[in-house]
Amino acid sequence: MAIRSAMERVSGGRHPVAVIEFGNQAMAAPAIASLEDLIAPLTTADFIGLLRSRAIRFQRNPGDNRFSGLLTWQAFRELIESGAVPAEEGRVTKDETVIPPLFYLEAGKVAAAKFERLMSHGASVIVADIDPHVPILKTLCASIRELTGETIKAGAIATTGDGGALRYHYDEDDLFIVQLEGSKRWRIHGPPVANPVAGMDAKPAPRDEPVFDEILRPGDTLFLPAGYWHQCSNEQELSLHLGIFFKPVTTYYAVKALLAKLIEDETYRRPLSRSESAADRAALEAEIRARLIDEFEKMVSSPSFFGAGKPTPPSG
Ligand SMILES: [Fe+2]
Repeated sequence: MAIRSAMERVSGGRHPVAVIEFGNQAMAAPAIASLEDLIAPLTTADFIGLLRSRAIRFQRNPGDNRFSGLLTWQAFRELIESGAVPAEEGRVTKDETVIPPLFYLEAGKVAAAKFERLMSHGASVIVADIDPHVPILKTLCASIRELTGETIKAGAIATTGDGGALRYHYDEDDLFIVQLEGSKRWRIHGPPVANPVAGMDAKPAPRDEPVFDEILRPGDTLFLPAGYWHQCSNEQELSLHLGIFFKPVTTYYAVKALLAKLIEDETYRRPLSRSESAADRAALEAEIRARLIDEFEKMVSSPSFFGAGKPTPPSG
């Protein structure tokens, strides 16, 4: 089911912030291999409605351990310490500040003893692209990518100490948060930056009372739309959560991808101001105008523009 047809079947309307209780019994952990598995008890139609309206949605799932098969702290730590996740793909922070890698690397690799010492002293570790390294997450992201046509990735954050891993910020992607271990308090402030993209000038942060202030516990999920300022904090125990990132197909990203392509074509690099005559310059301008229109037409008629969502840069 392509997202456009799925979206066309979902009526519009803004979704208020909602807290929904979903059972109260311990459950075995089934495989989470699709969007449907991930968002239950929300339906795909519910979730596409959230993507469209970009409204916050909190789902409390007490006693629901169904996400435990996605990633555990033990598995995350082993991926980092074994080098399965390259050191340059992770960040270690403390008190919301990045710790220089020399404090936990030896010969370019994570030194387990140093890393664990930092983690036992209130540090946090962030891997923004964990899905290529965890088969079940790779399968899950591929399935959601296929369904939505958007760029999908999974990031993992483990936090120790009583602070958060990151400063007060907003993300350019929509995020589906899954609390895996421990707990984390999320404070979200509005109004959101409308339809943000990576590379925008910094926007002033709202300082009003949060529009959302809840503690997520294992099994709880949160849909955090792009543009909402937020900050997390936790208690002394380790907290581990996953974020599934949804980067929609956006004209700005598509045009940016087109620019990257044009730079490789010498025609677009010719100095217009150095033509030998007005006629030469007019001819060059006409050629460039025609080629640009042709490139733009090819871009917007490509399935990747409205469908596959590939021409997107990494989030900053
Ligand atoms: Fe964030």
